[in-house]
Amino acid sequence: MKIVVDQSKCCGHARCNAFAPDLFELDDLGYVAVSEVEVPAGMEEAAQTGAGACPERAITIL
Ligand code: F3S
Repeated sequence: MKIVVDQSKCCGHARCNAFAPDLFELDDLGYVAVSEVEVPAGMEEAAQTGAGACPERAITIL
């Protein structure tokens, strides 16, 4: 499972990070700082929850 973030859509809501801080790192301004992350085993549910929490639909799970 892989997370792909369209950083151009990120508005800094930080909801992804609230649900899965280890997967969705933020920069100093509060915008998501990652574009692609391989999801470690056991973190799939957190990845799905974090992705689904983004109101901008900036996160895709592959
Ligand atoms: Fe950005 Fe969405 Fe996360 S707007 S900080 S990717 S919740």
